[in-house]
This record gives sequence, structure tokens and C-alpha cells, in this order.
Amino acid sequence: MSEKVAVSLKINGKEVTLLAAPEQNLLRLLRENGYVEVKCGCEEGDCGTCTVLLDGLSVKSCVTPACACEGREVWTAAGVSRQERIGRLLRDNFAKYGASQCGFCTPGMMVTGVNYLMNNGVPDRQAIRAAISGNLCRCTGYKKIIDAIYHTAQELRRETAGEGML
Ligand code: FES
Ligand code: FES
Repeated sequence: MSEKVAVSLKINGKEVTLLAAPEQNLLRLLRENGYVEVKCGCEEGDCGTCTVLLDGLSVKSCVTPACACEGREVWTAAGVSRQERIGRLLRDNFAKYGASQCGFCTPGMMVTGVNYLMNNGVPDRQAIRAAISGNLCRCTGYKKIIDAIYHTAQELRRETAGEGML
């Protein structure tokens, strides 16, 4: 077994230093250190359950080397749904529109949804469908997930329009 190296990063707004094996992926490093909301599905970059924000962009943590995250900022679904305005709104709309059944895909879907809303935010079902195309869900048929993201985008747009009128 290779010797572990210290990796300092900021996770959900908190500075931490974790020990990672050189060959370890970010997914396993996070789960080993209690961030078990980051789910492990395929571990081959195909299912999207392990999606996190890395320096503001969604990445699949199972294909992201842990040692490449030195000095970087990571947000998991638990972090964004508690601490970011967009994440809280999206979390509430996941509940309201029934976008989660077994819940296994939900953390990855939440992070991908937050990434979409942060970088685009257009309430457009086709664009949302394309944005979540890297995240698989075996339960919902995707419609309710798209509804939740779509209505969040609409609400954020209404808020922004309201601010513009002040
Ligand atoms: S576990 Fe990372 S994409 Fe499936
Ligand atoms: S809610 Fe079960 S996999 Fe998506």
C-alpha cells in the first residue's frame, strides 16, 4: 500500500486536511472522512451519483484524483442544500415535486442542479434535461427532477426580476 499524503482543501466552507493514498479518488476520500452523502454507484464516471462541485464546477468525484484537489474547494449536496440559497430552494422543490424516490441519485442530481442554476438558470426543460444527462435515475423517469429544477429556475428568475424593479 502506498504511503498516504496530506491533502488540504475546503469542504462545504470548512478548511480540512485529509490523508489520501496517491491512487485514491476524491469519492473514496470524502466517504472515508464522513461525507457519506456523496454516493458511490459505478465508480467509473457513468452514473453521476458521486457528483460534487469542485471550484464551482460539477465533477464526478470517482474519476477525480484526491491528490489533485490540494488547495481546492469542494461542495457536496449536504453542503449546498444547507448553506447556499439556490441549494436550499432546490432541496425544497425536490421535496415539493416528488423528485426523489429511493434517493440514491438525489445528492448527485442536487449538485448537478445547483451547478446548472448557478451557471445558467434558464427555466428550459430541454436545457435542464441536457444538463442532467450525466446523472442516472432508475426510479423517477426524470420528469419530477426536471420539474424541481425548472420551478427553482423560475423562482430565482422572479426574485431577480423583483430586485431589478426596486
Ligand atoms: S460513482 Fe462516479 S459516476 Fe458513478
Ligand atoms: S430516486 Fe432512485 S435512483 Fe433516482
